[in-house]
Amino acid sequence: MTRREFVHKAAGLAAVAAGKARAEAPALKPGSLAKFVDPLPIPEAAKAIGVRPAPGQPGAKAPVYRIAMREIRAKLHRDLPATRLWCYGGSVPGPSLEARSGQGLYIDWPNELPPRHFLPIDHSLHGAEASTPEVRGIVHVHGAKAPPESDGYPEDWYVPGKSRTYFYPNRQEPAALWYHDHTMGINRLNIYAGMFGLFLIRDDVEDALHLPGGRFEIPLLLCDRSLREDGQLDYPVSGDPARPWVPEAFGDVMLANGKAFPFLEVEARRYRFRVLNAANGRFFRLSLGNGRSFQQIGTDQGLLPAPVTLERTLLAPAERADLVIDFSGLAGEQIVLRSDSFEVMQFRVVPAKSEDRSLVPPALRPVPKTRESSAARTRPLALIERMSLKGESMEMLLNGTPWHAPVTEKPALDSTEIWSFINTTDDSHPIHLHLVRFQILDRRRFEPFIYLNSREIHYTGPAVAPAAEEAGWKDTVRADPHMVTRIIVRFEGYIGRYVWHCHVLEHEDNEMMRPYEVIEAPVAPTT
Ligand code: C2O
Ligand code: CU
Repeated sequence: MTRREFVHKAAGLAAVAAGKARAEAPALKPGSLAKFVDPLPIPEAAKAIGVRPAPGQPGAKAPVYRIAMREIRAKLHRDLPATRLWCYGGSVPGPSLEARSGQGLYIDWPNELPPRHFLPIDHSLHGAEASTPEVRGIVHVHGAKAPPESDGYPEDWYVPGKSRTYFYPNRQEPAALWYHDHTMGINRLNIYAGMFGLFLIRDDVEDALHLPGGRFEIPLLLCDRSLREDGQLDYPVSGDPARPWVPEAFGDVMLANGKAFPFLEVEARRYRFRVLNAANGRFFRLSLGNGRSFQQIGTDQGLLPAPVTLERTLLAPAERADLVIDFSGLAGEQIVLRSDSFEVMQFRVVPAKSEDRSLVPPALRPVPKTRESSAARTRPLALIERMSLKGESMEMLLNGTPWHAPVTEKPALDSTEIWSFINTTDDSHPIHLHLVRFQILDRRRFEPFIYLNSREIHYTGPAVAPAAEEAGWKDTVRADPHMVTRIIVRFEGYIGRYVWHCHVLEHEDNEMMRPYEVIEAPVAPTT
């Protein structure tokens, strides 16, 4: 258990004692669920309902999808009653989008949620005041290079009965993007309730590699939840009914594609897994129970230059890993996918029914390094946690500024910048920038107390290059504790207002999110 999990557990117990009035079923005991009794569900593919003229391309048409925010009841496990969930479409995860690079599509996102929320809203949080409607939604496609009016700005939420139509141009390289709720102040609750799904972009170059495809390519959307004995979601609260916010929410039930501890029958051959960490706060450190290695071929924003052979891979919230696991020669075996001491799911290997013609070529896709010298500037950005006198977390801040402070990060369109995250806290924060993809330059240990007192950075170790499996295009980066993490970003695509934030959803909802604005490139002076 990490310090965070311990603090959370202790707070949770206090809350249980304080909040008995809620008359909820007792917490499901960890380990009480039978493991590997449900098959792994595969999210269905979203189907277009029509076409509309594509913006800015006279004569061209783009497909239209309609995916409603809805409440459902679904069984998370064979032995549990159905769980109340909020989702997109009719399932958790929602339907998967399949797009081709360069081919835009529309999605109508109607809000058809019920009028009351069922998870504990904290009205003391900015953007979730008691004066705001309880049920609100706004969707963001994480990793999409989308125009600002289709990006899902957190304050653009809308209530049940309303809808938005967004256009996604998909003018970007193939990657496993994902869509999820982004509502100001209650994002953590809406996503915990189940509001997320996958959005894959492909192209001919990637198809020509002959990676495992079709039924041998499996999405794996992972998260953790706390459940009660009646099968319902349990979201932790602080014990202070006026301020129920907790700094992190961890559960002991691992869900893969919306099932607790499922199994997947696999043939003795190669499979490609499109893995997403969709958890609020848990980091997954994935490994195979038989100790075998696997290959990581891609990261957040697409393929790595070359496959990396690993025995474990670490995924912070919102990070993706494109993995190839070779089950050949393992027919008859049962292999558990683990995350540290947790069992996540099981693979049951059966003999291959046909020859495996898939490949994992030694060169996947070039990732040209962005040169440091191309950066117009470096922005030092401190990550700060404000504690109460009792040592409880009050809020998390980016650069000491709350959400509503004036915009301070205004990169020019097509300029390159280095963003340097100075993490003074004891936690790792997965930092995500909307619109762009970036590369990690390095991480370097420093002395946080000196920094907090004097704003001077005293390094206590050498700069460490990113691991090979992180050395591709990213949109989310672990800013590790007491480290300065530097990324290099080119701001391409659109001018306008976007956001950057920590993807631990409890942090994001309590001020660890800031707007940023891509501005028109300054006109070069004529000589
Ligand atoms: Cu995954 Cu601001 O988003
Ligand atoms: Cu954080």
